[in-house]
Amino acid sequence: MRTLWFMTGNEGKVREAKHALEPLGYDVRQLTVDGFEIVEPQCDDLEIVARSKLQQAQAHLPHPNDALMVEDAGLFVDALDEFPGVYSAYVLKTLGCAGILKLIEDKANRNAEFQAVAALLLDDEVHVSRGICQGVIAAEASGSDGFGFDPVFVPNDIEREGSVHTTNGRTFADVDLSLKEQFSHRRKALDGLIKSLSSSETASSS
Ligand code: IMP
Repeated sequence: MRTLWFMTGNEGKVREAKHALEPLGYDVRQLTVDGFEIVEPQCDDLEIVARSKLQQAQAHLPHPNDALMVEDAGLFVDALDEFPGVYSAYVLKTLGCAGILKLIEDKANRNAEFQAVAALLLDDEVHVSRGICQGVIAAEASGSDGFGFDPVFVPNDIEREGSVHTTNGRTFADVDLSLKEQFSHRRKALDGLIKSLSSSETASSS
């Protein structure tokens, strides 16, 4: 198994990355460094933030042969002109899920999306991938699974290869991780990384 360090303070994200990457031969471990805090650049592009995080985290990689991953995610609400977006962590801490519900209580349009950008450093190469999950902000918070804005986000149903994936109107916090994964922005970003890894393996072996 190849060791993959995921630099994040968020155990929910680590759980999701383990679920996706361990079956593919990656031993996913959480990397936290005492006294080190990543400085997020002030910009509205998750990819720039993720690339900057990866660069800053590199100095703390326990072994140069290990892989290093970071991820940046956010909730983008249509009626709030994509807010909180890159400010999601701050908004969750200050306003919480209740604050998001309050901000859109009189809005007819409750559409929103989660976006995640994962960046991976492996064998001196950087791979970046984005995942998007569209849905709506629920009428009220519900559920105790998951983390962050999960209690107020209901993913749209998805039709894939002839079958419909649905949470039946339940929030991400109301369903288990295996069901969240069928829709999740993070899972899509990780799947994109996996594709990028396998195509670079094909390229280097041909
Ligand atoms: P960051 O990528 O850790 O900066 O995440 C930004 C904010 O969005 C954090 O407060 C997360 O809790 C929240 N967030 C990111 N991904 C998810 C998710 O899958 N579900 C719910 N909240 C999320």
